[in-house]
Amino acid sequence: MAAFGTVFTAEMMLAEYSNNQWSEPALVPVNSISLHPGAHVLHYASTCFEGLKAFRHSDGSIHIFRMDKNVARLQQSSDLLALPKVDAAMLRQMILDIVKRYAADVPNPPGSMYIRPTHIGTEASIGKAAAPSLSSLLYVLLSPVGDYFAGGAKPLRLLLEDNARCAPHMGMVKSGGNYASALQPIMKARAAVQADQVLFCPHGDVQETGAANFLLIDGNEIITKALDASFLHGVTRDSILTLARDRGMKVSERELTVDELLERAVKPGAEAALSGTAAVLTPVGTLIHNGREYAVGGGVAGTTTASLRQALNDIQWGKAADTHGWLTKV
Ligand code: PLP
Ligand code: COI
Repeated sequence: MAAFGTVFTAEMMLAEYSNNQWSEPALVPVNSISLHPGAHVLHYASTCFEGLKAFRHSDGSIHIFRMDKNVARLQQSSDLLALPKVDAAMLRQMILDIVKRYAADVPNPPGSMYIRPTHIGTEASIGKAAAPSLSSLLYVLLSPVGDYFAGGAKPLRLLLEDNARCAPHMGMVKSGGNYASALQPIMKARAAVQADQVLFCPHGDVQETGAANFLLIDGNEIITKALDASFLHGVTRDSILTLARDRGMKVSERELTVDELLERAVKPGAEAALSGTAAVLTPVGTLIHNGREYAVGGGVAGTTTASLRQALNDIQWGKAADTHGWLTKV
């Protein structure tokens, strides 16, 4: 299977904002946009995106998972980056139209169709370092995918990093700049300690990794940082916490310090996991901090992570009732 996110369908849906209005969305070849080299996005990073998935059920029908949450988050990101306002109904329809068009290309489980709505500021005006782009492009790309973490559900190694992933007030924005600013620490962690990911913990505050949220599971309790502006409000995080509540687990959304994490994570029965659209729910086996390695759960793999992942997948793949109304049939 090709690397995650490297295969695209031949077409995408595209809408253009100019003169204070959106154009009628159109189906266009993926390589059909051209940008002026002075475009706002290329200089001042006026870009945000979303990641959601469509799943094929055993009867062949195609279902998109929690589309409205992702549409709302792209609207929020666009607002926080001073990009033109995104019309929710228009974006929803663009997603439905492109997924319907490529329904035949949605892989069977465990694969899925990754959907990447993207919004970029296009105004050619390099003087606008402190002013928003008045024009933009909104497009929806599709990429058939398998597992994001090669090696499937192999427990990950995380390096705890004392610095922040991005500017503290921008973490909740799914913007390109946040990903670029996290790259150096991630590359260093790979080279130095063969970490799979970095867990950003500025001032001892356990936040998230470069591409997923972080959850600590301790017996019947699931602990994760309460929502604030400093990190991405994951749709998968919300889904997993909902499924945990459904099965009577105690869900604690609160501050989690590095000290508490390292103390509790090593105890027998403890588990740690990353949640995300691409990551689904992937177990964490090792935490690395100040040159020491901490084996999560004392090195014994727990079962709660796997069972919550299965519960989520069962809904996505139509094997369990969609009691929360998370799926939209295409
Ligand atoms: N945090 C970051 C930085 C991410 O890139 C992602 C992935 O999208 C997440 C968290 C998880 O968000 P979601 O579950 O909505 O995919
Ligand atoms: C997602 O999970 O949707 C993300 O944006 C992460 C990305 C690395 C694929």
